[in-house]
Amino acid sequence: MIRSLIIGTGSHVPPRVLKNQDLEKMVDTSDEWIIARTGIKERRIADGETTNDIAAKAAKNALKAAGVSPKEIDLIVAGTVTPDMLFPSTACFVQSHIGASRGIAAFDVSAACSGFLYALDAADKYIRSGASKKALVIGVDLFSKIVDWKDRNTCVLFGDGAGAVVLSAEKGKRGILSTHIHADGHYWKTLYTPLSLCSSPLHDKTPERSYMKMQGNELFKVAVRTMGEACQEALDHNGLRAEDISLLIPHQANMRIIKATAERLGLPEEKVYINLDRYGNTSAGSIPLALDEAVKKDMIKKGDIILFVAFGGGLTWASAIVRW
Ligand SMILES: CC(C)(COP(=O)(O)OP(=O)(O)OC[C@H]1O[C@@H](n2cnc3c(N)ncnc32)[C@H](O)[C@@H]1OP(=O)(O)O)[C@@H](O)C(=O)NCCC(=O)NCCS
Repeated sequence: MIRSLIIGTGSHVPPRVLKNQDLEKMVDTSDEWIIARTGIKERRIADGETTNDIAAKAAKNALKAAGVSPKEIDLIVAGTVTPDMLFPSTACFVQSHIGASRGIAAFDVSAACSGFLYALDAADKYIRSGASKKALVIGVDLFSKIVDWKDRNTCVLFGDGAGAVVLSAEKGKRGILSTHIHADGHYWKTLYTPLSLCSSPLHDKTPERSYMKMQGNELFKVAVRTMGEACQEALDHNGLRAEDISLLIPHQANMRIIKATAERLGLPEEKVYINLDRYGNTSAGSIPLALDEAVKKDMIKKGDIILFVAFGGGLTWASAIVRW
C-alpha cells in the first residue's frame, strides 16, 4: 500500500519578537491577563518579510532536511488565509522562489487555522492515488496583516510563522495513516475577515480597511468540542487508543483549549507539544511549526504515533494520524 511518508520538516518565523509587555503599551491589557487566559507570552511579527518569503524559507528548510532537490517536487499545496495576493497563489510563488520545476501542480487551500491539515489531506490523496510522488505541504499565515492592533480581544492572540513538510510516496506501514477534514459554515460569524475590495463600474465606493472579527467565547466552546471529537474520530478510525499516541501536536490557539483536549483524551502533559507561549496562534503555520520543533528536539522516533488536530475559521476542524 502506498502511503505519504513525512521525510523532512522545516519552519521559519520572523525574528522580530512582540512581547505581552509591548502589547500593554498598545491596548488596555496586561501580561498577567494574557498568560492566564491564553498561555501566550510573546509572538513573532513580520517586519518586511511577506507571506511568500516566509513560506519559501520554511519550504527550503523542509527540502534541506529531507535531502530532496526542489526539482523532485511534483506538487505544492499551501494552507493560508493571509496570502500576499488574491492570485497567484502562495503555492505558485513558493514554486518560483525555491526553483521547483515548471509545470507541476501548485495551489492554496483556505481553511484558516485548519489550513495545514486541509493541505496535508489534499496532498496525501494525490500521493495515495499515484498522482504525486513527492509533495511539498506548507502552512503559513501572517495574521499581523489582518489583526486590528487596537482591538485587545484579538490582537493579543496571534503571531506570524510557517512550517512545511515534504511527503514521499512509499510502500510500508509508516506514513500518514488517516486524515479527516470537516467544516460547518453555519458558524462562519465566529471568526472571519471581510475582503476590502468593492470595485464596480456601478458604484463609486472607497474600500474600507477590513480586520479580522472574532466571537471569542463562542469559538472557545466550539473549539473544545470539535478538537475532542476530531481526536476521537482519528483514533477510532485507526483502531487506536489514546495510550498509543506518542505525541499530540494540537493547533496552538489557547492553552486552555489544548489542556481541555488533552484531558478529554487522558493524555499526560509530556505527550502534548506546546510552543504557544513563544509564538501565539500562527494559524495554518502552527502545527507544522510545532512539528518541526519537536523533530529538531528529537522528541519523535521512528514508529511513533503522532496525532495532529486543529480547528479554525469556517468553521473548520481536522485531524491526521501519522506513524513516523
Ligand atoms: C479570546 C479569549 C482568550 C477570551 O478569554 P475569555 O476567558 O473567554 O474572556 P472573555 O471574552 O469572557 O472576556 C473576559 C473579560 O476580559 C476582557 N478582555 C478581553 N481581552 C482582553 C485583553 N487582551 N486584556 C484584558 N482584558 C481583556 C473582556 O473585555 C471581558 O471584560 P468584561 O468582563 O468587562 O466584559 C478566549 O475566549 C479564546 O481563546 N477564545 C478562542 C479564540 C481562538 O482560539 N481564536 C482563534 C481560533 S483558530
